[in-house]
Amino acid sequence: MTPHAQPLAGRVAVVTGASGGIGEATARRLAADGARLAVLGRRKDELDRVAAEIGGLAVVADVTAGPEHLAAVADQVRSALGAPDLVVANAGLMLAAPFATADRGEWTAMLDTNVTGLIDTARAFVSDLLATPGRADLVLVGSVAASSYFPTYAVYSATKAAVAALSRGLRLELGPRGVRVRTIEPGLTSSDLGSGMLDPDGRAGLAQFRENLDSIPAGDIADAIAWASALPARVNVAELVVLPTAQG
Ligand SMILES: NC(=O)c1ccc[n+]([C@@H]2O[C@H](COP(=O)([O-])OP(=O)(O)OC[C@H]3O[C@@H](n4cnc5c(N)ncnc54)[C@H](OP(=O)(O)O)[C@@H]3O)[C@@H](O)[C@H]2O)c1
Repeated sequence: MTPHAQPLAGRVAVVTGASGGIGEATARRLAADGARLAVLGRRKDELDRVAAEIGGLAVVADVTAGPEHLAAVADQVRSALGAPDLVVANAGLMLAAPFATADRGEWTAMLDTNVTGLIDTARAFVSDLLATPGRADLVLVGSVAASSYFPTYAVYSATKAAVAALSRGLRLELGPRGVRVRTIEPGLTSSDLGSGMLDPDGRAGLAQFRENLDSIPAGDIADAIAWASALPARVNVAELVVLPTAQG
């Protein structure tokens, strides 16, 4: 095996929302590149499946359950694997509906998960990242929806714009202390995202969009995350927009 075959050997990675979709693909790719993995999410069966397949640690975690819960999760990861130096805050929800009739609970769920949950995840692991002597990465999964807009997706877009702003602000604070804060903004990617939305027209519209425009596999997003994380510590690819070529 050449030295570059395992570019993340020796690293300890945490991926939230690793029970499916982009998070699962990312966990698989980081593990294949040599990192030891903690996979986080709410669905224990799915986490156990992923963890068993990659030899990782499954930790049932709800990013909306607050800082104490996430601090306990972080302790569990540290005890089992050591301090993480690569954290992928990926867990997210996308629930589209016309603004005038949308269920407010869907907005709250997106804000709690995509914004507060992501912030709480970053906070739970930031001391580990700051204490890392070598490469330390905080990867925030945003979306092209942060800056390109679709009818009925205004609140989702707002949550992803918040991710972009958080990333830029944190970069100024943590970059000088050796932590590479990075946003990855996927375009249309194959996953279960949106399957839980209440609005039937929203679900049909998303299915149509996915049919009209070939979505990229989640592994393509994972590849980009793994590549950027393996670069030398001196360089941060701070913003990655990864989308189907046809999405334009
Ligand atoms: N797919 C796309 O086209 C696309 C495009 C742009 C951005 N993104 C972003 O990519 C990220 C991953 O989405 P995906 O496409 O992979 O969708 P997905 O297949 O629905 O996966 C979402 C993941 O988030 C987890 N999750 C949701 N709520 C959670 C919570 N409260 N606590 C912990 N984990 C939670 C889910 O796990 P559990 O249910 O087990 O908790 C699941 O593993 C999201 O942030 C999404 O906004 C996706």
